[in-house]
Amino acid sequence: MKRLSYLTLILLFTNSLLISTTSAHSREAESSLQEDVPPIVAHMRQVNQNLRQLRRQLTAEKKNENLKLIREIRKHIEKAREEEPLKTPELPARERDSFLKGYQVLIDKVLDTLDKLEASVSDGNLEQAEALLVELNTMKKEGHQKYQKEE
Ligand code: HEM
Repeated sequence: MKRLSYLTLILLFTNSLLISTTSAHSREAESSLQEDVPPIVAHMRQVNQNLRQLRRQLTAEKKNENLKLIREIRKHIEKAREEEPLKTPELPARERDSFLKGYQVLIDKVLDTLDKLEASVSDGNLEQAEALLVELNTMKKEGHQKYQKEE
């Protein structure tokens, strides 16, 4: 009888291990890039999702998780920088170079701000981090006004 209950315990344990790895997998899939949209949109959406999470959990306790989130955001912004905004091909050819240059300059400003954000989270200066998140939002608005294709 005792043997049987040991066996039950072992079975329960392995089963719970199995369940936890399965849900970790589906969480990973949820946060992976969407494939049914252009890469620039997929990367931007990922930035949006990560920034929202960062805003929700901007506390000292979550410092390491937040530093990871900021690095993740940086990665997707860098990837978005390599892409062309969707309205580029619709512009007259002579305007495209300066349009793309302007896009990259603003994206670089976002990258600089992310560096500052990383430093302030690392130093535990969350007030400054909040202010930088507001700046990022202003850049988002400007970026979308100038470079996003109208629906
Ligand atoms: C930093 C915060 C930013 C966030 C959170 C953000 C978020 C987003 C989201 C969610 C989308 C996808 C919209 C959709 O589902 O169709 C998008 C697309 C886009 N965003 Fe951003 N964005 C940010 C900054 C910027 C900046 C700074 C620029 C320009 C320099 C920019 C340019 C674009 C472009 C070009 C698209 C793709 C759609 C298109 O090409 O028309 N974004 N962004």
